[in-house]
Amino acid sequence: GIIVLDYGSQYTLLIARRLREIGLYAEIVDGSKEQPPEDFTFHGVILSGGPDSVTDETARKLPRWVLDSGKPILGICYGMQLLAQEFGGKLRSGHQREYGKATLNLDVSHGCWASSMLSKLPESQTVWMSHGDDVENLTEEFSIIGRTGDGVVAAVAHKEKPYIALQFHPEVQHSECGKELLSLFVQDVCKAKLNWQADDVVEATLDYVKETVADGKVLMAVSGGVDSTVAVALMSQALGNDRVTAVFVDHGLLRKNEASWVKEKIESLGVNLVVLNRAQEFYQALSGVSDPEQKRKIIGLKFIEEFETYAKANEGFTHLGQGTLYPDVIESAGHGAGAKVIKSHHNVGGLPERLHMALVEPFRYLFKDEVRLVGRKVGISNELVDRHPFPGPGLAVRILGEITADKVEILQNADQIFIDKLREKDLYKEVWQAFAVLLPVKTVGVMGDNRTYQWTCALRAVTATDGMTAGVGDLPMEFLVSVSDEIVRKVDGINRVVYDITTKPPATIEWE
Ligand code: XMP
Repeated sequence: GIIVLDYGSQYTLLIARRLREIGLYAEIVDGSKEQPPEDFTFHGVILSGGPDSVTDETARKLPRWVLDSGKPILGICYGMQLLAQEFGGKLRSGHQREYGKATLNLDVSHGCWASSMLSKLPESQTVWMSHGDDVENLTEEFSIIGRTGDGVVAAVAHKEKPYIALQFHPEVQHSECGKELLSLFVQDVCKAKLNWQADDVVEATLDYVKETVADGKVLMAVSGGVDSTVAVALMSQALGNDRVTAVFVDHGLLRKNEASWVKEKIESLGVNLVVLNRAQEFYQALSGVSDPEQKRKIIGLKFIEEFETYAKANEGFTHLGQGTLYPDVIESAGHGAGAKVIKSHHNVGGLPERLHMALVEPFRYLFKDEVRLVGRKVGISNELVDRHPFPGPGLAVRILGEITADKVEILQNADQIFIDKLREKDLYKEVWQAFAVLLPVKTVGVMGDNRTYQWTCALRAVTATDGMTAGVGDLPMEFLVSVSDEIVRKVDGINRVVYDITTKPPATIEWE
């Protein structure tokens, strides 16, 4: 296997996940750990990126055992700077901040050992940058093996030792040959044997549920989304239907007709389901609130209260089940290595001690497409498994500014037109996620002979495989115009439609 040393990057688990795809298990270890993990044979070490600057006094250093092990090392971003610093290179902070796409030009003419590996990749490729520091000067011991289009040192290799360092993120989907590069590193340089398969994920997950819950009972929070649906199916499979109860809180911030759809689908899996209709309570709690983080926190808290009340009234539950995915954990910075909070994903937000239940989260270390794979393996229909993701706080984070029941209805109608049209034109599966957003912006229009002054609706469609990074959905202009046309004609309250053309990063997928 491979050790991934974690320095708090948003992408650390993505490295492990890419290695799983390649066919290798990776153990993630805190970057400051003084010893390698016991009982784990490793063939190489990957140093993750991280939000810190290595020049800070408090910044974590490279532990001694990494170099002492004599194993190959791949440093990514912060990891690159750690390696450079270790060998006396000079760093500069924030000289040229780069985020998003860049072109990597490889140079294999210097004859360093890495040339043969890199010559298997195209000379020029798109890579994904997200950093503030870069390497200004290297010692003689390193060769520069790649630069970005504007000359920034993007890849270096030690002339003799099997150490490579990259300023970009090969683990993200939008780095064109990133996976090939990781694959070359683990196979050609580390000489690791590929021995991890997709079926292992299902087995490992079932084992985890059986072990964690033992002879207890699970109260499973479901949303109708892919993750919690697959999770509840797996729990039922692992524990039997009578030890699992699914609870679905309808917070009134769902897609149109969603609640009845979810009820039908979950019950068709043979799972016991309880639906709590709480729209009025949620609207009341959110009244007058515009701040995105506050909205998320209020919704998260109300969810906890609902489950708490339900568990009190129905004794005997030992565990609370959630379909939490790794990206939810990392962007809420639940994990130990100091990743920054991007958004408080409500399904993680401190569901706590208060419930007197332990958590069981079978997908905490997985990504959405891995969960889809698991879902198919346990026999869940494509209709469910292929649904676009939907955020826990729902339309609350798609109605910018204050939320009212009127706005919810306007947005539901616009969203449904967009989604129905995507399905009709066979475009639904072409994008990872598509939705409408209601902006707190009124503009002037003309309909018939009358002046209108109504809300603006933004359409967003993105491509992704895990939601950690995203590209803009390349929907035909003619299609977008037809969606806009129908929305403005049919949805009273919207007189203008715009299309969001921002990638993630620097934007996020949801607007709040
Ligand atoms: P962002 O907006 O962070 O979204 O780029 C990444 C993916 O996560 C979804 N998302 C959430 N999912 N609870 C969830 O279960 C949440 O609080 C939440 N917020 C965002 C989002 O829809 C996208 O697919």
